[in-house]
Amino acid sequence: MKRLAVLTSGGDAPGMNAAIRAVVRTGREKGIETFGVRHGFNGLVRGATVPLGSRDVSGIIQQGGTFLGTARCPEFATREGRDRALDYLSRQRIDGLIVIGGNGSQQGTHELSKDGFPVVGIASTIDNDLCGADITLGVDTALNIALEAIDRLKVTASSHRRGLVVEVMGRNCGYLALITGITGGAEAVVIPEREIGPEAVARIFREAYDKGKKHALAVVAEGARCNAQALIQYFGEEAALNWEIRATILGHVQRGGAPTAFDRLLGTRLGAAAIDSVVRGETGCLVGLVGAKIASTPLAEIAGREKPLDLALLDLAGILSA
Ligand code: F6P
Repeated sequence: MKRLAVLTSGGDAPGMNAAIRAVVRTGREKGIETFGVRHGFNGLVRGATVPLGSRDVSGIIQQGGTFLGTARCPEFATREGRDRALDYLSRQRIDGLIVIGGNGSQQGTHELSKDGFPVVGIASTIDNDLCGADITLGVDTALNIALEAIDRLKVTASSHRRGLVVEVMGRNCGYLALITGITGGAEAVVIPEREIGPEAVARIFREAYDKGKKHALAVVAEGARCNAQALIQYFGEEAALNWEIRATILGHVQRGGAPTAFDRLLGTRLGAAAIDSVVRGETGCLVGLVGAKIASTPLAEIAGREKPLDLALLDLAGILSA
């Protein structure tokens, strides 16, 4: 393989730039010319690529987001959209593609692979819902940002003796909420994988008050039925609480930070592993961190599947909130 394209797709994730940099520089070392695709699969459908040399990826390892731009591209889910992309790749004489992205993006990658185009996916999403990776690129940074926010919120909540509701991202997956809940010392964690209702959170908050706690914290996943809005509405209308409640929805704040050392290294290792895979002629796969190693899993095994959550951690969160 001599001419390779790389793109970032779906929600951006801190560490994507480190992965692009590693693709370009390790590819160069193996005699591969790399082209950056602008704004995800859109750049293939509409024909927008730029040649990337070593200097083009200077000074980006410490930056969050993705300097190539990203997007969700519904057109790519259609036969017509993918044909336009394949036609563009052929006209550009590009003979392989690396896709840095999460669940939806890797389904697109899998479709291209089924069409016979050589592709390698890099497991990247803050949601950590992708099979084939224990920890996806961007998760560590998102967790640390959420945690820093929670630490600050707890300071002011303790001063006023207030109850806190903090909503974190994750789409349908409760991973971010569960881990920030445990590491942030939450009294209650609400996730879609094992829902609890608002009355259960109200009971936990009342118990926390009776124990003499200075604050009570509920971390809720955006994908839970009982999200921040539902909880606040219930607290306002139904529950008599001693606590005065404040709610914070962290939203995109979690995604926008500078990548941690962990994500810079992970992005670098994943980018290099994707190039190794391409050089070995092993395509149609996703590279991701499994245990302490970078592993490769066939896209057919991961596409469209959601990684199950370790619910023993939820039980642990309950025990630790005593
Ligand atoms: O998939 C990453 C993610 O940040 C989810 O946690 C969230 O639900 C979604 O993207 C938000 O998407 P957008 O950036 O398009 O609003």
